[in-house]
Amino acid sequence: MQRQRNLHWFTFAVAVIVLAAVAPLLARKPQEAAPPAQGAATGATYVGADTCRGCHEDQFKQIEMTPHGHAVLKTNGTSADMCEACHGPGSAHVEGGGDKSKIFRFAGTAPAAISAQCLACHGESHTQGNFRRSMHFRNGVACTDCHSPHKPKQQDFLLVAKTPQLCYSCHSEIKPDFSKPFHHKVNENLVSCTDCHDAHGENVRQLRASARNDMVCFKCHSDIQGPFIYEHEPVRTEGCTVCHTPHGATTPRMLKRANVNLLCLGCHSNSFDTRALSATPPSRDTSIDAPVPIGPAHNQAQRYQDCLQCHAFIHGSNTSNVFFKP
Ligand code: HEC
Ligand code: HEC
Ligand code: HEC
Ligand code: HEC
Ligand code: HEC
Ligand code: HEC
Ligand code: HEC
Ligand code: HEC
Ligand code: HEC
Ligand code: HEC
Repeated sequence: MQRQRNLHWFTFAVAVIVLAAVAPLLARKPQEAAPPAQGAATGATYVGADTCRGCHEDQFKQIEMTPHGHAVLKTNGTSADMCEACHGPGSAHVEGGGDKSKIFRFAGTAPAAISAQCLACHGESHTQGNFRRSMHFRNGVACTDCHSPHKPKQQDFLLVAKTPQLCYSCHSEIKPDFSKPFHHKVNENLVSCTDCHDAHGENVRQLRASARNDMVCFKCHSDIQGPFIYEHEPVRTEGCTVCHTPHGATTPRMLKRANVNLLCLGCHSNSFDTRALSATPPSRDTSIDAPVPIGPAHNQAQRYQDCLQCHAFIHGSNTSNVFFKP
């Protein structure tokens, strides 16, 4: 017995040492291993945007009137590095008479290296600064999948397409939700995917604020935020999405159950009386992940079936501990 325990400790110690050695390697994302390519040609120097313009008048005009044209020009006082801020130093490319292999090209470059080129400037910002921790980055989505500095389809934010079409182009599985009878009016342009999600964000589900704390919902539904003297506990502890689907549903109020009664009883198990007596817990709706609350002591006779008829202020109340009144 004693020997066996020592063996356990030994195995444990070895595991800890091995993990400690390997952890930094695991933590480093493979994409980050490659240093950002700063122009394909080593030893090249900056020649200035006017030189580029000589052969790339179209590209110059495209950039000139965008925030990149303005900002970079302004910041530097000259147009010196407008193009080369993104494409790397261009002297070798120019000397080679426009040798494509001697300039940083976005086409054909790995997503992580593309984003690195943009993050050289945008990496300090609150929003894009988290991009490397986002689901998008970690799944090979690059800045240029959504933005085009030269030929944006949507001038605002230099996007390759308007939202929500931009998002649907990859998330086609989400699209049907917004055509359901009850939905956030995203297609109608009243609510945007980016009201709730940050395309650059690091939070779970790339939400602007974590779903559990529901700050993302309170931005518009501040009336539900309270504080209430009597809060309905799951609103605070589980969050809105324990009862509502966020995108759209076939059920009124986008509730997760068509039948409100079943939604309530999914947590408020009606086997309350027997639970105290029984060794096994009453069967609950396991798809609702929440602690077991007290049941309604009142019976389940006909007149009690429409729970909201009496418990009308379901998110919380300042006057009624059972949410009868506001
Ligand atoms: C903000 C970064 C950025 C700046 C500034 C920039 N480019 Fe680009 N360039 C890109 C990206 C990204 C692409 C890939 C195509 C796209 O997504 O628009 C590209 C593509 C190109 C191409 C390939 C042809 C094409 O249209 O796909 C040329 C040529 C080019 N740029 C030249 C220039 C010149 C000249 C300047 C300066 C006037 C310049 N670029 C400034 C980011 C930039
Ligand atoms: C002497 C003329 C000349 C000058 C100056 C010049 N280029 Fe080019 N560039 C070319 C030619 C020619 C090509 C090749 C076009 C092709 O093969 O399709 C090219 C290609 C490129 C490409 C790749 C386009 C692609 O199809 O992916 C980029 C990016 C680019 N140039 C950027 C620049 C930048 C930035 C500057 C300024 C530092 C610059 N060029 C200056 C002539 C020039
Ligand atoms: C999945 C699509 C997507 C990707 C990938 C993406 N963006 Fe964006 N970006 C957007 C959308 C949509 C907006 C406008 C709405 C908003 O503010 O979120 C935006 C806004 C911006 C803005 C202006 C507003 C702000 O937040 O400052 C900047 C700058 C920006 N993006 C830079 C980048 C850079 C740099 C990268 C890569 C590191 C990147 N984006 C990757 C979709 C994307
Ligand atoms: C040389 C630094 C620099 C680089 C490199 C750079 N940007 Fe920018 N970018 C800026 C500045 C400065 C602004 C304007 C000020 C601002 O909005 O932050 C800007 C603005 C933007 C905006 C907002 C446009 C708007 O309408 O408000 C987007 C989107 C953007 N950049 C995307 C990119 C992408 C994508 C890349 C890489 C292909 C990139 N940037 C590379 C400096 C840079
Ligand atoms: C170029 C393709 C592409 C575009 C465009 C795109 N996404 Fe994504 N998105 C992905 C990929 C790939 C993932 C990784 C997980 C997956 O496959 O769902 C992802 C993940 C997400 C996630 C997290 C999903 C999860 O399970 O955690 C959200 C939320 C999201 N995207 C929202 C958006 C929004 C909002 C837009 C529009 C502004 C957008 N995406 C545009 C490709 C894209
Ligand atoms: C009203 C806020 C809101 C809007 C608007 C919204 N989402 Fe979401 N989205 C959420 C929440 C909250 C979740 C997390 C759901 C969960 O984890 O239970 C989510 C989850 C997702 C996921 C992860 C997969 C899934 O179904 O759970 C993707 C992808 C996604 N949203 C994309 C989009 C796209 C694309 C748009 C615009 C067409 C959009 N969302 C509009 C709040 C919103
Ligand atoms: C315990 C389940 C539950 C939780 C958690 C919950 N809701 Fe509700 N919500 C309901 C029910 C049931 C209704 C229907 C009320 C009615 O029809 O009278 C409703 C209705 C709504 C409505 C439409 C009617 C109204 O009262 O304005 C909105 C908006 C709403 N909820 C938002 C939220 C938000 C935001 C959260 C998170 C802060 C949330 N809900 C959390 C059960 C819940
Ligand atoms: C950008 C603002 C905005 C955000 C953020 C937002 N909502 Fe809404 N929500 C609305 C608007 C506007 C309506 C009314 C839509 C209508 O009349 O069709 C609505 C309606 C609702 C309804 C009632 C739908 C019905 O059938 O009556 C529920 C439930 C709801 N939202 C839940 C949520 C939840 C949960 C979140 C967070 C994940 C959230 N909302 C985030 C704007 C928002
Ligand atoms: C996600 C699980 C969940 C759902 C769904 C849910 N509840 Fe609750 N409810 C709770 C929890 C937890 C409490 C806290 C008090 C407790 O432990 O019983 C509570 C408390 C209550 C109370 C106050 C009890 C008291 O004396 O403090 C009432 C009344 C109530 N719920 C009614 C409802 C109704 C009606 C519905 C359906 C619209 C519903 N609940 C849906 C989990 C839930
Ligand atoms: C006809 C009105 C009415 C309807 C309908 C109704 N209740 Fe109640 N409920 C009450 C009353 C009255 C109380 C006790 C209030 C008190 O003790 O102050 C109560 C109390 C509760 C409590 C608190 C714990 C307890 O038993 O005292 C819960 C939980 C509850 N109800 C859930 C539900 C659920 C779930 C439904 C729908 C299946 C529902 N109620 C339908 C009137 C109603």
